[in-house]
Amino acid sequence: MSASDSVPRVGVWLIGARGSVATTVVAGCAAMTAGLHPPTGLVTETPPFAGSGLPALSALVFGGHDTVDCPLPKRAEALAAGGVLPHGLPAAVSAELTVAEREIRPGGPLPGDTRTEEDLIAAFAADIRSFVRRGRLARAVVVNVASTEPAPTGEALPPSSLYAAAALRAGCPYVNFTPSTGLHHAALARPAETSGLPHAGRDGKTGQTLLRSVLGPMFTQRALTVRAWSGTNLLGGGDGASLADPAAAAAKNAGKERVLADTLAGTPEGEVHIDDVPALGDWKTAWDHIAFDGFLGTRMILQTTWQGCDSALAAPLVLDLARLTARAHERGLSGPLGELGFYFKDPVGPGPSGLGEQYTELLGFARRLRAQPAEGGPGGGRSGTPAHGCGAGEQQ
Ligand SMILES: NC(=O)c1ccc[n+]([C@@H]2O[C@H](COP(=O)([O-])OP(=O)(O)OC[C@H]3O[C@@H](n4cnc5c(N)ncnc54)[C@H](O)[C@@H]3O)[C@@H](O)[C@H]2O)c1
Repeated sequence: MSASDSVPRVGVWLIGARGSVATTVVAGCAAMTAGLHPPTGLVTETPPFAGSGLPALSALVFGGHDTVDCPLPKRAEALAAGGVLPHGLPAAVSAELTVAEREIRPGGPLPGDTRTEEDLIAAFAADIRSFVRRGRLARAVVVNVASTEPAPTGEALPPSSLYAAAALRAGCPYVNFTPSTGLHHAALARPAETSGLPHAGRDGKTGQTLLRSVLGPMFTQRALTVRAWSGTNLLGGGDGASLADPAAAAAKNAGKERVLADTLAGTPEGEVHIDDVPALGDWKTAWDHIAFDGFLGTRMILQTTWQGCDSALAAPLVLDLARLTARAHERGLSGPLGELGFYFKDPVGPGPSGLGEQYTELLGFARRLRAQPAEGGPGGGRSGTPAHGCGAGEQQ
């Protein structure tokens, strides 16, 4: 057995593996592992997580599905040209990008695809299982970072749900980093429950909603009445193009508005808009305009401007989620991981919506993941029911 074989390796199977977020995840993980960049933005690299038994960044192995064929090293070059990745990074980590590129398989449905839902689920599950086998991985986490879909209207499974079903069938934990349906389809409720697998979602909380989950509780705690909360986002890149579809934008905006409904005493007036501005690429500007009443009904306004690089905000969260969910799987937890609400706009389970309380829950989760269960055993907590015998093996 070689030294590298002695450290259990953990797979991260990315749906949308050639997108901006996925490419930044793979390049970023390689850059940190090589010591080229510090782990800025990775919550799991901070002291409270040191004893949680999370897989090391160097133990992560990447693969995934995509429906486009632009190779990962080329995609990384394009992101560097746009200032998303540091200049020179794609060359510095080209070996790791090439290794991941070899593990990317064609996704679906492709234009003109005649395969049935069952054909697609079976094919995706076979790809994931073969990734786990080939890499001799201890387990793999499936993470959806594909383009946002409109909410489905009929009974047919949207692509995100086909992949979620494939993850269950391959015996893998599942994380939905997008607002797409994924495991939230009625047809998948029972298989998800009986799978014995942990899952988390939906839609990474990286910018505007992150700020809302801090400011919403502030207004409530200071007994200030929010009358209207309006937001506008300008965004380019692949995500901007996908969200130019009003149905896809509606799926995204529902999560952004949920945090206000959950943290404020009433539902304020106002909407969120997303405009596709291709010239901005991956750089997003989000404005929030908050009208509120102070003492004696005095009218006041708070305005915020968030200018972020979307993929650089998202990638560390994806790595955190992959590590936490992999460890939850190793510890035998199953079901919705509500304590990961810190990371999501529209979290699974009934947890709090304010960022401070969500962080406290996350720290509790980090303690629960430690090798020696705290008093009361690993079942203490409101989600992630302990399950048995969930290795990387497939579900029946
Ligand atoms: N800050 C953030 O960047 C952020 C935050 C929260 C959520 N998200 C979500 O992450 C997702 C990815 O964002 P991005 O900027 O990387 O977008 P992107 O357009 O760059 O990448 C999406 C990738 O998904 C692929 N894809 C589309 N349909 C597919 C299918 N059926 N099967 C497999 N692959 C498919 C596309 O080919 C593309 O490579 C989006 O849904 C976005 O809303 C991003």
